Amino acid sequence: MHTVTLGELCFVPMMEKEAIQKRVAELGKELTARYGDKKPLFVSVLSGAFVFAADLIREFDGVCEIAFVKLSSYAGISSTGNVKTILGLEGDLAGRDIIVVEDIVDSGRTLFMFLNMLKQKNPGTICTVSLLVKPDAIEMPVSVDYTGFEIENKFVVGYGLDYNGVGRNLPGIYVLKEE
Ligand code: IMP
Ligand code: MG
Repeated sequence: MHTVTLGELCFVPMMEKEAIQKRVAELGKELTARYGDKKPLFVSVLSGAFVFAADLIREFDGVCEIAFVKLSSYAGISSTGNVKTILGLEGDLAGRDIIVVEDIVDSGRTLFMFLNMLKQKNPGTICTVSLLVKPDAIEMPVSVDYTGFEIENKFVVGYGLDYNGVGRNLPGIYVLKEE
């Protein structure tokens, strides 16, 4: 892995794609043990979680469905504190087992707001999976049931995560270089 420049910012390697794949496979196994015979509905939070969700559902050994929602709270490298729904959930969720798939939990606002929306649709069960969690950044009372990796409170890109729209295609994860 090499240093990557996106716009005016420089990012250094943090996690190899092999390490990510290994962890995603473990998460897939844990979810299979719990939901393998329940036809869960994976709900992926766009845009950042699309890469993780695509890998995660292929590590799930059972019948499942996937849906997408689009929420937005970020501009540049910091959370705006203002979460917008750009694409909502359609269809009947009553009684369904929902697995919310996030790329990263930072302040926790996006997940908090989305879980509140979701609960109003009376699903049977809800669990949350996030590839990355920044424990030192969390400001809202959200629980992440399955965490890929806990990371420091630093800005990261790659594996679906972006900086102003770019960097999502990087197979590994990179962290903003400190001056
Ligand atoms: P939160 O609402 O503050 O928890 O932020 C959640 C959303 O902000 C995530 O789903 C990401 O899309 C984005 N985000 C948070 N931290 C980062 C980061 O380090 N890099 C890229 N996007 C991030
Ligand atoms: Mg996200």
